[in-house]
Amino acid sequence: MKKLISICLLAVCIHFSGCNTKEPMSSVIERGLNVATGQALLMAKKLEGERGKFPKTIKPDGSLETSEYGWWCSGFFPGELWYLYENNPTDELKQYAELYTERVEPAQYLTNTHDLGFMLYCSFGNGYRLTHNPHYKEVMITGAHSLATRYNSTICAIKSWDFNKDTWQYPVIIDNMMNLELFSWTTKETGDEVFLDMAHSHAKKTIENHYRPDFSSYHVVSYDTITGKAHIKQTHQGLSHESAWARGQAWGLYGYTMMARETGNNEYLEQARNIAKFIMNHKNLPSDKIPYWDFDAPTNVDTPRDASAAAIMASALIELSQLDKGHFGKQCLQLAEQQLRSLSSPAYLAEIGTNQCFTIMHSTGHLPGNSEVDVPLTYADYYYVEALFRFKKLKMIKH
Ligand code: GLY
Repeated sequence: MKKLISICLLAVCIHFSGCNTKEPMSSVIERGLNVATGQALLMAKKLEGERGKFPKTIKPDGSLETSEYGWWCSGFFPGELWYLYENNPTDELKQYAELYTERVEPAQYLTNTHDLGFMLYCSFGNGYRLTHNPHYKEVMITGAHSLATRYNSTICAIKSWDFNKDTWQYPVIIDNMMNLELFSWTTKETGDEVFLDMAHSHAKKTIENHYRPDFSSYHVVSYDTITGKAHIKQTHQGLSHESAWARGQAWGLYGYTMMARETGNNEYLEQARNIAKFIMNHKNLPSDKIPYWDFDAPTNVDTPRDASAAAIMASALIELSQLDKGHFGKQCLQLAEQQLRSLSSPAYLAEIGTNQCFTIMHSTGHLPGNSEVDVPLTYADYYYVEALFRFKKLKMIKH
C-alpha cells in the first residue's frame, strides 16, 4: 500500500513536470548525493567491526543481509564510497573507501567466477583512478589474469558460470559484458594487447548470439565447446527464455556503451544505440521510467520494479549521450534525467537512517528464485551514485 501511494505521488509529480516548478537538476543531484553520503557513512560505521563483511540487501525479516568478498557484489560498496569521496573529498570517506576496498582484495585470485570486473574494477579501479596507489594496480592486474583463465579461444568468450553443467556446456550471460572494462584497463596499463583482444572477441560473440532482431537480449547463451556455436539460449533470472529481463538489458546497454568509449569502435556504439532504442520505445516502460523487473512481465501495480536496472541504464545513457552528439544523444540524456528524477523522489529514495542504510528502494535481484524481490540492492546504490556524479560532471563541463 505504501509503495502504491508513493508511486501515485510520483505520477502526480511527473504530471506537473511540464510546469516551471520542476526542481532544477543540480538540486536533484545534490539532494541524491547527500542522501547517498549519509546512508553510506551510516552503513560503513555499522559494518566497520564486522570483518570482511559488505552490505548486500534486506532480509525478509527486515534485517540487514551482508556478504563476503566472494559474492559478485563485493566491489559495489567500496566503489560507491570512492565516488562519494570524489564528490566530497573528506578523510572519513577516504578511510572507509580504503577499508572496504581492502576487504575485496582476496577476490583477485578467484578463478571460479566471471564477476571479477564487478568486484575489482568498481572498488580497486575507482580507488586507483583517484589515488594512484600502486598496490591497487597490482591487485587489478592479478585479477585480470585470474579472469583470463575463464576465456576459451575456441568459443572466443569468457565463461560465466560453472553450475548446471548437465544443461549448459559453456554458459555466457549478458552481465558478463561488464567485466570487459577490467580487460581494457589492463591493456592500457600493461601494454599487453591480449586483454583487449579478449574483450573484443567476447563483445563481438555476444552481439552475434545474445541479441534478437529487436535488440533485446537473451540472458544465458551456452556454447558447444567443440564447435564454438551457441547450442542453448535461455533465461535464469528473467520471466521466460524469450523475455527481456530488465537488468540484462541494462547490462548490455552499459557494456556496449563502455566498449564504444574504450575502443572508439562504431559497431559497439551502434549496438548501444539500438539497445537504448529498445528500452526507451518499449510499450511496458512505465511513465516514471523505472522498468518492471522484466519488460515482458504484467504491467500492474503488484509487479515489482527493478530500480537497479534503472540506475544502470541512467548511468549508461549519460555516457551514450556524450558519444552520440546528435538528436538521439539528447533523447538518451533526457531519459537518464527522467530516471534520476524518479530515483531521487520519495518513491525510490530512502530517508537517511531508514532502509537499513541503503539509498535506493525497490530493486529486484532474482524473482524466479524467489530471492531479493522489491528490496534495496548494493548495486542499485552504486550505479545511482555513479549516474548522479556523471550527470553532475556533464553540467560542470558545460558551465
Ligand atoms: N549479475 C547478476 C545480476 O545482475 O543479478
